[in-house]
Amino acid sequence: MTEPLLSIRDLTVDAPTRAGSKRLLAGVDLDIGRGEAVALVGESGSGKSLTTRAVMRLLPAHFRVQGAIAFEGHDVLSMDRAALRDFRGHRVGMIFQDPRAHINPVHTVGDFLTEALRTTRAVGRAEAEERAEALLADVGVRNAGTRLRQFPHQLSGGLLQRVMIASVLLAEPELLLADEPTTALDITAQSDVMAIIEEQRVQRGLSLLFITHDLELAAACCERLAVMYAGEIVEQGGHVYTAPRHPYTRELLGARPSVEHRSKRLPVLSYTRERHEELKARHEA
Ligand SMILES: Nc1ncnc2c1ncn2[C@@H]1O[C@H](COP(=O)(O)OP(=O)(O)OP(=O)(O)O)[C@@H](O)[C@H]1O
Ligand SMILES: [Mg+2]
Repeated sequence: MTEPLLSIRDLTVDAPTRAGSKRLLAGVDLDIGRGEAVALVGESGSGKSLTTRAVMRLLPAHFRVQGAIAFEGHDVLSMDRAALRDFRGHRVGMIFQDPRAHINPVHTVGDFLTEALRTTRAVGRAEAEERAEALLADVGVRNAGTRLRQFPHQLSGGLLQRVMIASVLLAEPELLLADEPTTALDITAQSDVMAIIEEQRVQRGLSLLFITHDLELAAACCERLAVMYAGEIVEQGGHVYTAPRHPYTRELLGARPSVEHRSKRLPVLSYTRERHEELKARHEA
């Protein structure tokens, strides 16, 4: 088997609290191959965002991180500042839930898009603008030239998320980490934006870690699903959506809303922390 692009092994994260240390991730194993799309699903607080933040080395400095994260065979957890800058700037791109929180409101869309190209890649203004305009058109933004001169507040959430996607693609990453990229958008913008991510991913042969609450969407655009519960991956693989084995996954799939009633949050399940511990104890016995 060829080496995965991203390999997470036995990732454990503890946060110190006044009452002692709290385990937030426990023994997470996850691989993403080149050109592969993997979905990470699980209820709120299960550790999905923490997993991506650990990959980007964006966890608070006082968290204790154990295990291994390798990108193209390079140990992410021991990268120095220069390597980390290259990793975050050019290898991995992050797409977040709320684009407005990640785009400076006082800069034009054009400045936002071209800044990184001009500073880190020493590309001239005219060329940077040309590339940005072409990319905006690629992600389905009409009148791209006009949009470049506008400010973020003049764009809808869906358009702004496309700008965010364009900015990530400008850096030509190999891996996309998309943390609920459509949750904050209205329903039509949701499917449009997801279709664009999918189209660009396939065209460019990128890998994707897609965090979502939407199991249907996860199954539709990803080859593999990984299911998190309480900081652990309880089950992962290509079988998860059609033939789940773990009791939590079964309940999760059984409780999913119908296509007409997709909700942004998962319903409350009867699977509890106690049941989880009991199952683990039985499994380990
Ligand atoms: N800075 C922090 N300090 C202490 N605990 C934290 C911190 N950040 C996250 N946590 C805890 O880690 C757990 C996992 O959080 P995480 O944000 O990864 O959940 P999530 O699966 O992304 O949930 P959601 O679907 O709501 O986004 C939660 O219990 C959360 O309270
Ligand atoms: Mg999250």
